[in-house]
Amino acid sequence: MSFNLNIEKYKQIFPNYPPVVQSNNWIYGIWMIGNYYKRKYNYHGEYPPSYLKRVYALFEGYGKVLHLFSGVVDKNEQYDETTFDISSTGYEDRPQADILGDAEKLNNYFNEVYFDLIIADPPYTLDDAERYGCTKLVNKKKVLHECYKIANDGCYLIWLDLMIPIYTKKEWKLIGTIGLLTGTNRKVRIVSIFKKPEKKDHCIHEEDLANLPEMFVYDTLKGKEEFLKGKYVSWDKDRHNKSEV
Ligand SMILES: C[S@@+](CC[C@H](N)C(=O)[O-])C[C@H]1O[C@@H](n2cnc3c(N)ncnc32)[C@H](O)[C@@H]1O
Repeated sequence: MSFNLNIEKYKQIFPNYPPVVQSNNWIYGIWMIGNYYKRKYNYHGEYPPSYLKRVYALFEGYGKVLHLFSGVVDKNEQYDETTFDISSTGYEDRPQADILGDAEKLNNYFNEVYFDLIIADPPYTLDDAERYGCTKLVNKKKVLHECYKIANDGCYLIWLDLMIPIYTKKEWKLIGTIGLLTGTNRKVRIVSIFKKPEKKDHCIHEEDLANLPEMFVYDTLKGKEEFLKGKYVSWDKDRHNKSEV
């Protein structure tokens, strides 16, 4: 199970909106979503209407979806979704997260569960964080690393923020950015689209192997990859397993 990014699907679902464009291996676009003040639950930082519909419109396929920093996200029965937030939203008539926990320790909550799509909307500033009762702004770089640990190969991470978060290039590939405008006198945000490289993206071709010493070991930032007697082995330290490609 996996999701594939397909901007043609987005065009079909939103024929009258500016298209999302793919050019030179980069995805870009601009989303103008008005009526921000008509949010359903009046929760601070709630997604603008149709935001999630637009995100899903970019993808075809099926897989496990994580809504990280989920707030009052309504689950969509069409998808296999899990919601995760640090605290309950405090009102019975608002959706509550499936899992309450700290995103900086995400991997602790998902033993052996891997996601195909992660949709994240963290507090953007310390001021925002305090609105949710948090005393500090979450460490975003740490969260991206935690996301990596619970992501299947080929997983997409859609991160909404005021900035592109710091990430480790060996873990995530930034493949596009979409601007998000919600009206006058409102913050302009950016949707960063990351992809966790698939194993095949790491592979070295047969002809390259011929020129390598019999045993060649090198470290990537978080994983260790070894060439053992001409066989390429990928070793994911975070998952404590070894797999042959
Ligand atoms: C911008 S809001 C997301 C709102 C969501 N997009 C919606 O439509 O309701 C940020 C959320 O992050 C949560 N949060 C803050 N710090 C967190 C942490 N360390 N771990 C998990 N969730 C956290 C807050 O409780 C808040 O619900």
